[in-house]
Amino acid sequence: MSTILKVENVKRTFGTKVLTHALKEVSFEIKKGEFVLIMGKSGSGKSTLLHQMGLLDTPTSGEIYIGDKNVRELNEKQKTVFRLTKLGYIFQEYAILPELTAIENVYLPMMVNTESGNTPKREKAKQMLEMVDLGHRLNHYSNELSGGEQQRVAIARALINSPQILFADEPCANLDTLSTKTVLELLKNLNENVGQTIVMVSHDPDDQKYADHIISLEDGLIVSDKYKVKGELK
Ligand SMILES: Nc1ncnc2c1ncn2[C@@H]1O[C@H](COP(=O)(O)OP(=O)(O)O)[C@@H](O)[C@H]1O
Ligand SMILES: [Mg+2]
Repeated sequence: MSTILKVENVKRTFGTKVLTHALKEVSFEIKKGEFVLIMGKSGSGKSTLLHQMGLLDTPTSGEIYIGDKNVRELNEKQKTVFRLTKLGYIFQEYAILPELTAIENVYLPMMVNTESGNTPKREKAKQMLEMVDLGHRLNHYSNELSGGEQQRVAIARALINSPQILFADEPCANLDTLSTKTVLELLKNLNENVGQTIVMVSHDPDDQKYADHIISLEDGLIVSDKYKVKGELK
């Protein structure tokens, strides 16, 4: 499989007088179709790493390639377009807009994406909500949806522009056990059935069972980078 994302000697330091070395120097590659899990304790640098990969922040030094593109070459406007059309995100907070219904939330990113083809927006959004098993909740507002349902709306929205990579930062941190399982199995199915590349951050070692590439961070450094081969970590 081809490399879809390459992180090369990336460092991220915060602050001016007192420096926090959130990422010390990390390098690794992700191939198309992988389900990558980034593990580590709170404060180990997981979100910082995800933000660098997802073009939500800029490294202090080092390079990031998405496909063949060194993202440092993109200006702010190009970065915004890249994020919108090529990347998808889900976060711990579902970040769906309370003023909009489920279906309106899902087709929102399509309204700014001129590349999304001719499929009528509502129809495509409906298909995405059906895919996350919310075909019966199209016109509900967020206060009429459970946490798990809201996160599934966020997943449908993240996928509507067919992103090359879906980034998820602790997507189940606010969910109960049952909704967590539903959301993680949904992500796993997306990965297996449509080959969606997923990069997920979690502090829960149980989530390893869903991933096939597991990167562990400790104090801003990668302490292990392993692939699962026939269920065993190598
Ligand atoms: N914007 C920021 N400004 C200053 N320090 C930050 C910032 N973001 C993260 N940090 C620090 O960097 C370290 C790693 O944070 P983070 O990547 O959020 O960890 P994790 O997601 O693994 O819990 C922590 O010490 C955190 O306080
Ligand atoms: Mg975090």
